[in-house]
Amino acid sequence: MRILVTGKNGQLGRSIQKLFNADTKIGNNQSPNDFIFVGREELDLSSESSISLYFDNNKFDIIINCAAFTEVDRAEQKAELADQINHLAVKQLAIIANKQRARLIHISTDYVFDGESDKPYLEKDTSNPINVYGRTKLAGEKALQTVMPMNALVIRTSWLYSEYGNNFVSTMLRLGRERDELSVVSDQVGSPTYAADLAGLILEIIRHNKFRDEGQSTQIYHYSSEGEISWHRFAKEIFKIEKIACEVNPVTTQQYPTPAKRPKNTIMKKDKIVKVFNIKISNWKSSLNTCMKILKQKQ
Ligand SMILES: NC(=O)c1ccc[n+]([C@@H]2O[C@H](COP(=O)([O-])OP(=O)(O)OC[C@H]3O[C@@H](n4cnc5c(N)ncnc54)[C@H](OP(=O)(O)O)[C@@H]3O)[C@@H](O)[C@H]2O)c1
Repeated sequence: MRILVTGKNGQLGRSIQKLFNADTKIGNNQSPNDFIFVGREELDLSSESSISLYFDNNKFDIIINCAAFTEVDRAEQKAELADQINHLAVKQLAIIANKQRARLIHISTDYVFDGESDKPYLEKDTSNPINVYGRTKLAGEKALQTVMPMNALVIRTSWLYSEYGNNFVSTMLRLGRERDELSVVSDQVGSPTYAADLAGLILEIIRHNKFRDEGQSTQIYHYSSEGEISWHRFAKEIFKIEKIACEVNPVTTQQYPTPAKRPKNTIMKKDKIVKVFNIKISNWKSSLNTCMKILKQKQ
């Protein structure tokens, strides 16, 4: 088994590396050398020729695509680059995976939805992204499904955070220590996802017969922590755990304009992934506590 993980320096890529280094018994006689982690230096998804060249010289059984253009606001100005990385490169990876008879696991986003539903989104619900990032990620999903109707899997996740890089948790901790009060949006609701939990899920999926058996139809799955919160409530909980005495004032999306529009409600139903892979999903508070304990140890 040769397993490629792209985006090695990102939140999810680093979380997978940490977990895979600790637990490499995926299937029979698996060795740590079976995992190849690459960043843009080795495999630049903004360049079609870089992708072709890399795979001409490297063959895999599983490709896990964690790399993406993830800067939601910047994507509004860099639509072409975002489309290349989030859409065209995904299509190319799918074509290559087919040729190499590799399975493909691709990560997508809750931002494929417009957020106007008053119910949690199902995988089959109509997507209608309201910003460039969401549109490019949806185009990537669709291209993958067209090119690779079998042997691939798309996991849509939301509000990803971790002990690595810049994310909502690390930003709130920094601002909370610098300021006496902060304004945080209270009318956007969703479910946070700890990247280590998602890495654990990917590990379980790879081990699962349902994924390993050839000839399975390509599926989309939703995955996040359990529970529904606003960014405002999330910030308050971060300060509570860390005992930071910073006041968090609720503001509306209208009062806090950003270059890219954000969907209001992106809660996703996760029954499908729970049933198919027989997994348990943690509550957002317990995962947040775990991440913050690790952040404390790193200080
Ligand atoms: N973050 C969220 O809140 C969130 C929410 C929903 C879904 N997702 C999805 O979850 C997945 C993982 O997200 P994440 O938070 O781990 O992202 P991240 O921390 O931003 O990492 C993305 C990685 O992609 C790499 N990358 C960007 N452009 C590249 C290129 N041209 N060639 C090769 N690699 C490139 C980056 O490399 P550098 O380190 O060199 O920049 C980075 O390491 C993505 O598919 C994302 O769309 C994320």
